[in-house]
Amino acid sequence: MSIISKDIQKAISLLENEELVAIPTETVYGLAGNIFSEKAIKRIFETKKRPFFNPLIVHISSVDELETIVAEIPEKARILANTFWPGSMTLVLKKNKNIPSIITAGKDTVAVRVPNHPVTLSLLEQLSFPLAAPSANPFNNISPTKPEHVENYFKDELKMVLDGGFCKNGIESTIIGFEDNEPIIYRLGALSVEDIEAVVGKISIKNKKEENPDAPGMLNKHYSPKTQTILTTDITSEIEKHPNKKIGVLTFNTFYRSDKIDTQIILSEEKNLQEAASKLYDSLHQLDSLNLDVIIVEEMPNFGLGKSMNDRLQRAAFKD
Ligand code: TXA
Ligand code: MG
Repeated sequence: MSIISKDIQKAISLLENEELVAIPTETVYGLAGNIFSEKAIKRIFETKKRPFFNPLIVHISSVDELETIVAEIPEKARILANTFWPGSMTLVLKKNKNIPSIITAGKDTVAVRVPNHPVTLSLLEQLSFPLAAPSANPFNNISPTKPEHVENYFKDELKMVLDGGFCKNGIESTIIGFEDNEPIIYRLGALSVEDIEAVVGKISIKNKKEENPDAPGMLNKHYSPKTQTILTTDITSEIEKHPNKKIGVLTFNTFYRSDKIDTQIILSEEKNLQEAASKLYDSLHQLDSLNLDVIIVEEMPNFGLGKSMNDRLQRAAFKD
């Protein structure tokens, strides 16, 4: 399928002129630029206020292009790419010489994925270069899952947000690195551990800053609302700790009846983890816009996408 629209043509011409465009993906919106334009890549770091030690993900239009980005493809990487691309999985592999070191923060590996969004796939197919795209939010803030989230963050700094609607998976891709040709999860994400293990067998997870110097972006505090955010397994007693405060509550499927709650969002009344993940960041954006004193979030069930959501929520709620 190929979509040819005025918007995509405009995005192409901006990107060819070394400008940035916010692009839709199935996970979150990305802030995209030509990987070979130093000007564009510097602008990405400046616009996001992202430190240069934190490398970017390269977006390509098909598995076939992987050979042009990386130097080696371990057997299990090839199997994963063929199984899950286009999709919410990023592979970290030894980089090709032609990949600029500003993209990889000087590392000899590069992160790469084929996103699963028809608009961005068409865009990538029509461009003659891949796109570097971190999530389109200022460093440490909540990632954007709707065009208006990006516009609120970067009103004047961005020439275009390419509208692809709501991001259906709603949290970032799962990042997989390789040690001795064996896959290791560097970041939990929109592809569940269970789905990956069904293809390559038991896989270890190294997503804590302390245990993985190879994944420089795994900061303890990240994805954070401006409002104080607390993660708990016991909403009722947490509410009692904040008398006379304007309280927002975010839960998986439970409704708490209490006049102490100002606003409550239930992620999935049907207890569907996929639905909950797709609404997680949007709900945090909404609660963060209400001038609450505190956002109290209930821990998600700790399996499947719930595990990835808990990872994000722990970082959102992290206190130095
Ligand atoms: O779903 C996604 O992955 C979104 C969409 C836009 O594709 N992108 C995204 O990018 O989440 P960003 O920049 O917000 O997160 C990229 C993560 C960072 O934690 C970074 O440290 C890690 O990928 N990363 C990039 N290159 C790496 C490398 N060579 N080795 C280890 N980690 C790497
Ligand atoms: Mg990000």
